[in-house]
Amino acid sequence: MTGRAKTTISTLQARKRERQRISMLTCYDYTTARLMEEAGLDSLLIGDTYAEVCLGHPTTLPVTMDELITVAKAVRVGAPSVFLVGDMPYLSYQVCPTDAIRNAGRFMAEAGCDCVKVEVDRRHADTVAAMSAATIPVMAHLGLRPQSIHSIGGYRVQGKLARDAQVIIEDARIMEDAGAVALLLEAVPTEVAGLITGSTELPVIGCVSGPICDGQVVVMHDILGYDIGHPPKSVKVYAQLHGILVDAFRAYSDDVRAGDFPLADKGVSMEPEELKALRATLAETKCE
Ligand code: KIV
Repeated sequence: MTGRAKTTISTLQARKRERQRISMLTCYDYTTARLMEEAGLDSLLIGDTYAEVCLGHPTTLPVTMDELITVAKAVRVGAPSVFLVGDMPYLSYQVCPTDAIRNAGRFMAEAGCDCVKVEVDRRHADTVAAMSAATIPVMAHLGLRPQSIHSIGGYRVQGKLARDAQVIIEDARIMEDAGAVALLLEAVPTEVAGLITGSTELPVIGCVSGPICDGQVVVMHDILGYDIGHPPKSVKVYAQLHGILVDAFRAYSDDVRAGDFPLADKGVSMEPEELKALRATLAETKCE
């Protein structure tokens, strides 16, 4: 435990007012959550990218509510003070507002999340309003929405043309009016992110949308140099874990094969008289 004060939505709103940026990363397990809590991250996202980086699926679509609830519970135990955001998986909120409330409620009640995130546009305004009315804080994810990959036909920047940017800016306003407590902008041009950030009191978290947003989020594997997938060009890499981990796994494997693991002098040995007694018993048993 770090003894940090709990980060709440009021903390994030105050950070925006005071122009202090909000740090957020995805997180998928207890051990890493402990490290992120210790490092002082403000917020963690139980991203549906769990499907890709932890389960090996090609898209985020196959991950289920049950899987993400298990992950969220573990992360909450490891990081009790962060602002924890549960990412609503594909079809957990798109079918009807009742489903959305029930599924979002699981993140809040079972896993101790502070907020849920939904990938939306103006067609989801009623769902966001219903969730908000049911006391569920909603982060509205706009711009590139990976759960819509099959309808948009590829992962690319959204809002490069003026008319498309206008739609995203309007959607942000519609989400605020529907009761969203925060926005997340993925893969929109810096200028669009700047216009939205400057025109709302909601904290705006950017994901590869330039530096102007109130906070930043990225998939943790992308900043750790795991060398899986293709991290976006603007993402800074803070550690090269791929090489470090492969070297460690190789050294372990070599040591086991050579008989150098575990450390022989650190093993547990029997007391000499217990060993003597055991040998005597075994010898007697053999004679019978
Ligand atoms: O699931 C995820 O990882 C996301 C990104 C915004 C980081 O939604």
